[in-house]
Amino acid sequence: MAVTGIIIIGFVVAHMVGNWKIFLPDVDGVPDIDIYAHALRELLVPFIPEHVTLWILRTGLIVAFLLHIHAAYALTIMNRQARSEDYRGPRNYIAANYASRTMRWSGVIFLLFLLFHLADLTWGTHPMAPEVWERGEVYANFVATFSRPAVTAFYVAAMVALGFHLYHGIWSMFQSLGVNNPRFNNWRRYLATGLTALIVVGNAIMPLAVLFGFIE
Ligand code: HEM
Repeated sequence: MAVTGIIIIGFVVAHMVGNWKIFLPDVDGVPDIDIYAHALRELLVPFIPEHVTLWILRTGLIVAFLLHIHAAYALTIMNRQARSEDYRGPRNYIAANYASRTMRWSGVIFLLFLLFHLADLTWGTHPMAPEVWERGEVYANFVATFSRPAVTAFYVAAMVALGFHLYHGIWSMFQSLGVNNPRFNNWRRYLATGLTALIVVGNAIMPLAVLFGFIE
């Protein structure tokens, strides 16, 4: 769970920093983010054919997601087997906080977001996708989709759900990797809070910037 989580967090941070190119000015009349998206498809060309490196990276990410979900499923089963009876009274949570108790829910909400996100911006296929969607026109697709308040609101809500999931995920990662000495607890908390805030705010500002007309 921890290793695949680190790979996914690495992708999310790299994806966010790459997307910040939406704030940069055009280069010779072409949006910077479109040049970047094109360069990703051409990664390592001419040594490796176009799209191949990107597909290798995509495959790694898909495998990481599948293993992460599989580990979550296995943990749920182990949890149930460890206590076959339901609790008789209301639970008195001591070590578990809100984020840790909602990991499965925030995970499922995030998965639904991801499906919508891919259909919306990568495939341009779902019934609610902007009519003007066009392959490779990342800037135009970006503005078209986030100009709709409902889509921007959904993205911001999904980032908050991701935030809950990440906060507990980053905190528990150290436990899973055996770094659980109480001396490090403050650092674990700082890292979980800082990285979660960076990812939630850093992602949410992009749809909001379009909706409020800072990017058009
Ligand atoms: C507000 C936040 C986000 C914005 C603005 C955003 C933007 C985009 C855009 C514009 C694309 C299409 C790129 C292209 O066609 O070249 C894309 C693809 C993608 N996004 Fe996001 N994204 C966000 C959050 C996320 C998050 C949190 C994840 C988490 C896993 C994610 C995963 C992906 C994936 C897997 C793809 C497909 C990449 C590929 O084609 O290989 N995105 N995103």
